[in-house]
Amino acid sequence: MSKPKILFQLSGSIACYKACALISKLTQNGFEVQTVATLAALEFIGRSTLEGLTGRPTFINIYEPQRAMDHIHLSRWADLALLCPASASTLNKLAHGIGDDAVGALFLSYELSEKPYWIAPAMNQGMYHHPATQESLRRLESWNVKILHPESGHQACGEEGAGRLMEPEKIYAAILEYFSMRQTS
Ligand SMILES: Cc1cc2nc3c(=O)[nH]c(=O)nc-3n(C[C@H](O)[C@H](O)[C@H](O)COP(=O)(O)O)c2cc1C
Repeated sequence: MSKPKILFQLSGSIACYKACALISKLTQNGFEVQTVATLAALEFIGRSTLEGLTGRPTFINIYEPQRAMDHIHLSRWADLALLCPASASTLNKLAHGIGDDAVGALFLSYELSEKPYWIAPAMNQGMYHHPATQESLRRLESWNVKILHPESGHQACGEEGAGRLMEPEKIYAAILEYFSMRQTS
């Protein structure tokens, strides 16, 4: 059987380092992982880390030579798309159909009624509770996007509250469950 294909997208949150552990776990356990990063995500982790973990070039710039149409091809390639971590800015952009970077363009070309698209927000509690963010989350859910709801607790900025990335182990378990159910159905 071919390996399940995960389109693993990262946006600019301090939780990018946690996402690397999840990528590593996925690749070690038989998943094929294609990473996509916003420019802000690359302020937090290096492209080489993502490429070293996956053995595949990271998709960053839709205008990069040799990658024309990857914002369509990678959408079709994926069995499951995951935005992890989802920054407030990127998830608000997605909820408004803005496709001015690789993550946004891939989202617009993704067939939401056909395949799963999951979002794992990670942000300061104020950004999370902001009406723009809350409305975007509701909107995205109404489009068949699954939200991996963040957890509460201590935040990197020193505040307490909701907005911590769901534990990578839990996200991994949800992915495993999805693919095991798909196999049996
Ligand atoms: C140290 C630092 C940590 C940040 N952490 C987060 C975060 O966890 N979540 C978030 O939404 N934004 C965070 N930001 C702000 C985003 O990086 C910023 O809004 C950026 O424009 C997001 O870009 P992107 O959505 O295109 O990736 C952080 C910024 C800095 C400087």
